[in-house]
Amino acid sequence: MRTDGNVILIGFMGCGKSSVGRKLAGLLAVPCLDTDALIEEQEKMTIREIFTRMGQAYFRDAETRAVRSLTGREGRYVLSVGGGLPLRSENRELLKKLGTVIYLKASVQTLSERLARDTSRPLLQGEEPLEEKITRILSEREALYEEACSHVVLSDGKSIREVAQEIKRLIT
Ligand code: S3P
Repeated sequence: MRTDGNVILIGFMGCGKSSVGRKLAGLLAVPCLDTDALIEEQEKMTIREIFTRMGQAYFRDAETRAVRSLTGREGRYVLSVGGGLPLRSENRELLKKLGTVIYLKASVQTLSERLARDTSRPLLQGEEPLEEKITRILSEREALYEEACSHVVLSDGKSIREVAQEIKRLIT
């Protein structure tokens, strides 16, 4: 593991960042952090409420504040970040400074299955069929995910534990 020892998980909504993050943090015996949870705590609103009441631009600024606030944090941790956080170049730079960035990659099919009944993610609501929406947003983001990370880990067909163990092997 790098000297600073943090692991940062990025990737599309539904790729498993939060569950893999929790499992990996357990395997490494370090705390697990999540930018969406940090923002909800800070703003005293759910992500859905933030989008509805304050708008997406406000949420994106809150994401940057959340990542900036981690730069002074002591001690190792695993951090999973919201799927849109790596879109901002400042955020990508900050993530690289915080630790080893892993892109948890999943196919559109896997993502569609996992997100089929989700109501918590504002960007996935609306009339457009889910698979088309995922394909469209992912194609806008894929290159930035690749640019932001130092390793890509595929999660299709693997259990949360298998993915977490694979990441642990990669970084130790
Ligand atoms: C978003 C992803 C969500 C959350 C918000 C926006 C995105 O997090 O931050 O709904 O733009 O991809 P998860 O990736 O944890 O679902």
